[in-house]
Amino acid sequence: MIHLENVSKVYPNGTEALNNITLDIGKGEFVFIVGPSGAGKSTFLKLLIREEKATFGKLSVNGRDLINIKKRKIPYLRRTMGIVFQDFRLIDKMTVFDNVAFAMRAIGEPEKSIKKRVGTVLKIVGLEGTENRRPRELSGGEQQRVSLARALVNRPEILIADEPTGNIDPELSFEIMKMLVAVNRRGTTVIVVTHEHELVRKFGGRVIRIAEGELDSDYFISTKYNPQKPAPKPAGDESAAPPDDDDKQQTDGSAEKPEQNGSSDKEGGQQ
Ligand SMILES: Nc1ncnc2c1ncn2[C@@H]1O[C@H](COP(=O)(O)OP(=O)(O)OP(=O)(O)O)[C@@H](O)[C@H]1O
Ligand SMILES: [Mg+2]
Repeated sequence: MIHLENVSKVYPNGTEALNNITLDIGKGEFVFIVGPSGAGKSTFLKLLIREEKATFGKLSVNGRDLINIKKRKIPYLRRTMGIVFQDFRLIDKMTVFDNVAFAMRAIGEPEKSIKKRVGTVLKIVGLEGTENRRPRELSGGEQQRVSLARALVNRPEILIADEPTGNIDPELSFEIMKMLVAVNRRGTTVIVVTHEHELVRKFGGRVIRIAEGELDSDYFISTKYNPQKPAPKPAGDESAAPPDDDDKQQTDGSAEKPEQNGSSDKEGGQQ
């Protein structure tokens, strides 16, 4: 579904943000992107949504070649994606309702289904009743959840989130992550950038670590939320079980490689 081959990104000022990245992300995967500040994580996401163009290499998403894609085709690419930006990018002139409805209006959905769906996603992120407020009248965490609601509204094939728990207290972060797991169970590929080691350990899944623009490691942490993919084994797949509220960590650590090797990542605020 996502294919990168020797991808590098050099910004016009000469900064080499990504260097020679080769990897594939399959449909339905749950992926964390981790690494120190300035490593190139946001740049990686920006290449996937074609906000930035790779300087070298091959990159395709859902069979679309993102190197040679025509500008006018980019909106079609983005329609298959839900995006939570690191800086939210909510439109302050619009109400919460209109911010979330925006993507549905863009594809010409009828107002009646917009109303229903926006109500549903606002409920999912715990923001019922904020429909008529403006983003600036909300806390950072609330704005982050509006941004998540907006990303979910069109039932994307791929959900891409840059630090979706960056402004949120530990409990709410946990809830947001559970929402992302639930979205993933319904078949959406989820790619989450985070600095919060605690969340990565707790929720697991595929962990891609980028350091100084390079692919540093790529491994799998098996947890109850993201059990190891049942390779070529028969039956016994529990992956359809809904996430529960049990706070206990059940990492079996089969392929675990906690990243404690002296990076400059800020620690997550989990107490
Ligand atoms: N538009 C740009 N022009 C030039 N350099 C940029 C641009 N955007 C990012 N960079 C540089 O590219 C490198 C990677 O930046 P990026 O934003 O991808 O890092 P990050 O891993 O997301 O960091 P953080 O965890 O702090 O968000 C950094 O050195 C950054 O300064
Ligand atoms: Mg970033």
